[in-house]
Amino acid sequence: MNQAELHRLVSKQLKAKDPKALFDLRLATNLSLIQQLFFSLYPEEQHTKAFNKLLNQLPKLFASRPDPLKKQDLERLQAGNWYQSEKLMGIQLYVEHFNKDLKGLQQKIPYFKELGVNFLHMMPITTRPKGESDGGYAVNSYHEIDKKYGTKEDLLKLTSEFRKQGIFLMLDFVVNHTSNEFSWAKKAMKGDKKHQGYYYTFEDDIIPKEFEKSLPEVFPETSPGNFTYIPELDKWVMTVFNSYQWDLNYTNPEVFMEMLANLVKLANMGVDVVRFDALAFLWKKMGTISQNLPEAHNLIALFRMCLQVVAPGTILLAEAIVAPTDIVKYFGEGQKEGNECEIAYNASLMALLWNSIATKKTQLLYKSLAHVPAKPRDCTWINYIRCHDDIGLGYENALIHELGWNPEMHRKFLLDYYCQRLDWSPAMGQVFMYNPKTGDGRITGSAASLLGLEKGLTEKNQGLIEQSIAKIIMLHGITFAFGGIPLIYAGDEIGTLNDYSFLQDTSKKDDRRWLNRPMQNWDIIALLDSQNLPQSKIFHTLQKLIQIRKENPVFADHNDVQLYHTGNDHILVFERSQDKNGLLVVCNFDENPQVIEISWIKKLGYFAQGDPKDLVSDQKIIVNSGLLEILPYQMLWLKRD
Ligand code: GLC
Repeated sequence: MNQAELHRLVSKQLKAKDPKALFDLRLATNLSLIQQLFFSLYPEEQHTKAFNKLLNQLPKLFASRPDPLKKQDLERLQAGNWYQSEKLMGIQLYVEHFNKDLKGLQQKIPYFKELGVNFLHMMPITTRPKGESDGGYAVNSYHEIDKKYGTKEDLLKLTSEFRKQGIFLMLDFVVNHTSNEFSWAKKAMKGDKKHQGYYYTFEDDIIPKEFEKSLPEVFPETSPGNFTYIPELDKWVMTVFNSYQWDLNYTNPEVFMEMLANLVKLANMGVDVVRFDALAFLWKKMGTISQNLPEAHNLIALFRMCLQVVAPGTILLAEAIVAPTDIVKYFGEGQKEGNECEIAYNASLMALLWNSIATKKTQLLYKSLAHVPAKPRDCTWINYIRCHDDIGLGYENALIHELGWNPEMHRKFLLDYYCQRLDWSPAMGQVFMYNPKTGDGRITGSAASLLGLEKGLTEKNQGLIEQSIAKIIMLHGITFAFGGIPLIYAGDEIGTLNDYSFLQDTSKKDDRRWLNRPMQNWDIIALLDSQNLPQSKIFHTLQKLIQIRKENPVFADHNDVQLYHTGNDHILVFERSQDKNGLLVVCNFDENPQVIEISWIKKLGYFAQGDPKDLVSDQKIIVNSGLLEILPYQMLWLKRD
């Protein structure tokens, strides 16, 4: 039983909802875990004072939680895992690219309703340096809203409106680093020793050079290395991401406690899910790659256990874009199972879908998914195909080998396919952060451009346009059905193409991820209903699929995804099934029609009442001589009643 379940149980025991009693009960429930985790990071011999400070801090943090949110915390505990519901459908957006600012965003709630989305990941909105700021991921503050988005009042109005309308909000907590303009960094630069100890600072480059021997580079093209010399300090500072993003030193318990207060402030603004940004990097150790270290997991669990005492209704998402077997560990393992993050990005599925599109085959997808350990029952995925970042080719080399492919050459093929190095490929992506030292590169570009829509429209090639629309729908449809919260990247619901305007902006031009951070095109959206555009087809089909998902509880996440091998390497089949209800998802990744046998599908009970209906086309499936034909890039959702 994880701690959330325990809290659910104990909250039922408490008759009167006296806040003090509630807090004491919650603290008692988590105290021994908090203590263990704290002392595992900060040895008891030196840190009993710090632990006492934390114990004094927790009731104050609880007192700062607004009453409506305290009430909601209790309701959420009683309601079960809202985040696993089939009714959820997410969208991710940049406020300024969507509709100017927070007020503008609020005006677009009807658009969310029309499409069917009710879970919003809003990209960073707090203050950041002028010029380069990694899209707001270099934070000058954790709760001061940048003027261009509006005010804190605007945010509070928005979150309270979202609560009324049943829309969930996810905001980032950039937990690994601050900008070099953050108040702590500024104080450090003025010589303040306490705040120098909030970061990893070094007198000379001897230790940094030792670290570099094993640390990979995140942005090798624009920010090579992991340390930056800061003249004001006359010291080296650890900067794993960009040189203006200083890594926080969590070996210092003061940093943890300050960040916990920042986390609670964020939760108190009405945030439902806190996105723990770049959390794999939270602990550093010389001689390692300093990602996914056991201490990082203990630290995350410590944040979680403290937040659960103060604000149990707010949950955490792991932004861990790491190897498939490492991602699931952010749900917590062993004693921490279910006690780290409730949600994680399904980056593995995302990357494997792109692999299947390029190869037109699904073997690596099957192999890799079978290789990932099951997630804990109370946790869920964010399923997505694109986001504001690049697509990393994080496949397991051993599995690529098993298919008889050379991993290096295979990755090169994928870069060639997506980044315009093959004439026959319909994709219009670009390479992101190629590292000549390792030969690694990643892919950037919008979903529609990567799937051929840009090329199709430029060449006025109707066949290619239709094929790309089918691919866009199929990939999204898989994420809608796979189990978890589907997250549409704003603009993808209308097949938005690459946006090349970032090249004119000096603060953006070196970061090609901006290729896929477009303005929401309201002119096109105004035409969706009246004209027969490719965008209309995409929007209306996704809208319909969202509706179907919401109406069928079989889409809720009960950890029940079952993959089926068909003997046809172009096909992906998986089933979602709870009690009598079943949904069989059948997809063809090939440009030619493909067939699969149906005898085994019959055995699963899908043809018991005659030919089953495909929910996507709303038509009965016609089967000839025991074979089911699936058209190029077609997705079937077969329902067993
Ligand atoms: C996360 C964000 C990415 C950012 C990085 C550093 O990976 O998604 O956009 O660059 O963290 O904050």
